[in-house]
Amino acid sequence: MIAEALEIARSIRARDPARPTVAESVLCYAGLHAVLWHRLAHRLWRAGLRAPARCVSHLSRFLTGIEIHPGARIGRRLFIDHGMGVVIGETAEIGDDVLIYHGVTLGGLTLKPGKRHPTLEDGVVIGAGAQVLGPIRIGRGARVGANAVCVDPVPDGVTVVGIPARPPGKPCEDPTAGYGIAPGALESVEERMAALRAEIAALKERLSLRA
Ligand SMILES: CC(C)(COP(=O)(O)OP(=O)(O)OC[C@H]1O[C@@H](n2cnc3c(N)ncnc32)[C@H](O)[C@@H]1OP(=O)(O)O)[C@@H](O)C(=O)NCCC(=O)NCCS
Repeated sequence: MIAEALEIARSIRARDPARPTVAESVLCYAGLHAVLWHRLAHRLWRAGLRAPARCVSHLSRFLTGIEIHPGARIGRRLFIDHGMGVVIGETAEIGDDVLIYHGVTLGGLTLKPGKRHPTLEDGVVIGAGAQVLGPIRIGRGARVGANAVCVDPVPDGVTVVGIPARPPGKPCEDPTAGYGIAPGALESVEERMAALRAEIAALKERLSLRA
């Protein structure tokens, strides 16, 4: 646990422009404390000790203002900056080197049990106040803007903002026009796939005409 505290503290120092010392990060960053409390709660949860796990998680919430369900899976070096008001649901999964600001919810949209919370891949950034809802995947290195409401998957490396969250910028008039496909102009992954298939078919046809 000490090793993990130091690892997170070093990563906070690297990512927080306020450049706290490692000692400051260990002593004064609620996000770091919340992750360490969660490690204990998660261990109890996995051992079937659900009530003690919930008690630890509740104590952590009282002390840090960050609510992480003991069932949530969290990777290495998660940095919850400021932290107050963060809620992370039971089936949420978080990769390595993720950055989450205050007021973020990784929540569900259904009462049905099973996977119902988001999966954040490595290096994701979730801006302050953003709500990421449902069993969606936020791709590696993707960013969700402050106060966005994100209910659709976000591909690797893409930034989304607003409600509903979409890549910023003016949507293109004809979203299927060649490589001019504006990010976010298409409504769903299915539609994006259909556009890509059409593109491939057109290219194949052009190649066969040349042969
Ligand atoms: C989404 C974000 C990562 C984008 O950063 P960026 O790549 O530098 O983007 P830009 O600032 O160049 O903005 C690109 C466009 O998105 C818009 N935009 C940026 N953030 C936005 C947001 N949260 N909501 C709505 N629109 C936003 C900008 O107005 C701009 O629009 P335009 O192209 O029409 O002018 C960033 O703005 C953000 O929200 N980060 C979260 C930071 C945070 O929570 N900080 C809390 C610290 S305590």
